[in-house]
Amino acid sequence: MKALIIYTSQTGFTKRYAEWIGKRLQADILDVRDAKKKKKDYYDSYDAIIYGGWVMAGKVSQSKWFLGKAPAWNGKKLAVYVVGASPVEGPDVEECMKNLLNDEQRGYIRAFYCQGGLDYDKMNKPSKMAMKMLISILNKKKDPTEKDKAMVEMISHSYDISDEKYIEPIVEYVTD
Ligand SMILES: Cc1cc2nc3c(=O)[nH]c(=O)nc-3n(C[C@H](O)[C@H](O)[C@H](O)COP(=O)(O)O)c2cc1C
Repeated sequence: MKALIIYTSQTGFTKRYAEWIGKRLQADILDVRDAKKKKKDYYDSYDAIIYGGWVMAGKVSQSKWFLGKAPAWNGKKLAVYVVGASPVEGPDVEECMKNLLNDEQRGYIRAFYCQGGLDYDKMNKPSKMAMKMLISILNKKKDPTEKDKAMVEMISHSYDISDEKYIEPIVEYVTD
């Protein structure tokens, strides 16, 4: 079984998952920027293609690129792993995963969520500003809920809730 992992990552969490999965599956790993430069037949030799993207305001970065390619790869094992700063049990995770694939895509692509974190040291300026804005909006709320308060507390600094255990269902699905 020859697998390829294509990922996009700003601060390193999604890349780390690509490396964890890559090690387990002895898979090749490509940044999506390099994947975009490959010719169509480059992908022919792979039995499985896994795409990893991070969540930005509920949407999975560059998933459109992968989902656009996916119909041509039907017949291969296809998976998407999504990396976000929200804990896996968060309601926004459910919503994000629900919106990622349509019914047809669900027929041949499996999606998985992996906890990431926040790394302000590696974040670019626009991202830092967006996070600042979110914190300011939450702080300005007249009647913040406990959830809002916990969110501000959580996203006001860097944290890492990633764990290699989140790759297990992905590995199982791809090797099954
Ligand atoms: C502008 C912005 C918006 C984000 N929106 C979400 C979000 O809606 N849900 C979430 O769980 N994480 C969100 N995050 C957090 C990232 O998904 C998280 O930091 C992820 O681990 C980044 O992956 P990377 O290190 O591979 O870039 C957001 C981060 C930024 C910078």
